[in-house]
Amino acid sequence: MKLILLLTLLLSTQAYAQNDDEGHGGSKHQESHEHEGGKHGGGHEHKGGMMHGGEHGHEDGENGGHGHGGGMHGGGHGMNNVKQFFEPLPASIIDEEKNAALIKLGKMLYMDPRLSVNDKISCNSCHALNNYGVDNEPTSPGHEGKRGGRNSPTTMNAALHIDQFWDGRANDVEEQALGPILNPVEMGMPNKGAVVQKIKAIDEYKTLFAEAFSQEAYPFNYNNIGVAIGAFERTLLTPSRFDDFLNGDEDALNKNEKRGLKKFMRMGCTNCHNGVAIGGNSYKKIGLVEPYETEDMGRYEVTGLESDKKAFKVPSLRNIAKTAPYFHDGSVETLDEAIKLMAKHQLGRDHVGHGMIRDIKAFLGSLTGKDQ
Ligand code: HEC
Ligand code: HEC
Repeated sequence: MKLILLLTLLLSTQAYAQNDDEGHGGSKHQESHEHEGGKHGGGHEHKGGMMHGGEHGHEDGENGGHGHGGGMHGGGHGMNNVKQFFEPLPASIIDEEKNAALIKLGKMLYMDPRLSVNDKISCNSCHALNNYGVDNEPTSPGHEGKRGGRNSPTTMNAALHIDQFWDGRANDVEEQALGPILNPVEMGMPNKGAVVQKIKAIDEYKTLFAEAFSQEAYPFNYNNIGVAIGAFERTLLTPSRFDDFLNGDEDALNKNEKRGLKKFMRMGCTNCHNGVAIGGNSYKKIGLVEPYETEDMGRYEVTGLESDKKAFKVPSLRNIAKTAPYFHDGSVETLDEAIKLMAKHQLGRDHVGHGMIRDIKAFLGSLTGKDQ
């Protein structure tokens, strides 16, 4: 008798706890968003703090989700939950005035092929600023045309991600920038000292480094190259019409795009693609529901954790309409195909209709930067 009582008590507490979760889910998410909004300075600081609120969206999608995270725009269209999942881009994540010299230097380094061993390859070769930060190649030709096994992600908005690279092996854009210069299939420089010597011998850099690192006795060091390039990359934000929508302009999206947004939330894409970058804030296995063929072990190579096999950083979907081909190996040519594969492998939806794909694609198109 006592045992049954205890069990009932336990079960009901659990049920209560669950209800409680549901009931306050909305406001919790909002808080976590606002929290992040306050410290965009370090994209990597977001680590681990993200949500798993997709299920909520699923339920709320149709009926407007009243009672969840009230007080936002776009009400009355079944869109009340939009702000639980997404956050508009901040105006800026680096003080561009105060860091003007540093950013100027960073941009010059980013564009400069002299950072490569044969003076041919710059960051911009694979992450073209006039092409949404990508080269539209499945994998990128680097030093002597050699290619790595992964697709070049865009540098646009990348500073907002929890970590850098598909497997997150660099903490932030400053650390990341130091990798490709020495990578034999990218810019192919032999070692740090050689890079510093080469840059130091270029006249323009003498003034630029001195200005950018005016407090330092020896501004020329390898690390500072990363600091400067990273500062420049922090300026690469691409506000889109979707940001206007999140900021209260209901007409910023057309009917198809709004329908696509609802479907994107209702289907559960927001389980993984959420937050300020609509992705970029967590690691998830490719083939979560239906196994996906790939040799690349992704995050596992960084952590050695069994659960990280085939896990990749969830890509940001900002500018996604412009950054084909898709996936970590660039094996998926079209956005239609990427959406279909996602529905199947990540959500177990084998047969998504043409209309579903068309609408979601329309929504994704609204994530393209306006001033590009
Ligand atoms: C030869 C082509 C190539 C060059 C040159 C190159 N990159 Fe990359 N970049 C890549 C590839 C490929 C990846 C993904 C590699 C991975 O995840 O393992 C990448 C990843 C990145 C990322 C991570 C983005 C994200 O979403 O995780 C950033 C940022 C970046 N590169 C910036 C730079 C900078 C800065 C330079 C110049 C110092 C540079 N790249 C030079 C090809 C290139
Ligand atoms: C369980 C997490 C999860 C869910 C749910 C999910 N995705 Fe993804 N998405 C990922 C991961 C991880 C990748 C990277 C896969 C890879 O490269 O191997 C990705 C990649 C993508 C890409 C390609 C991005 C690029 O830059 O190459 C698109 C487009 C995309 N997802 C859209 C969607 C859409 C639309 C939905 C809903 C139908 C969805 N995703 C649902 C985790 C998820």
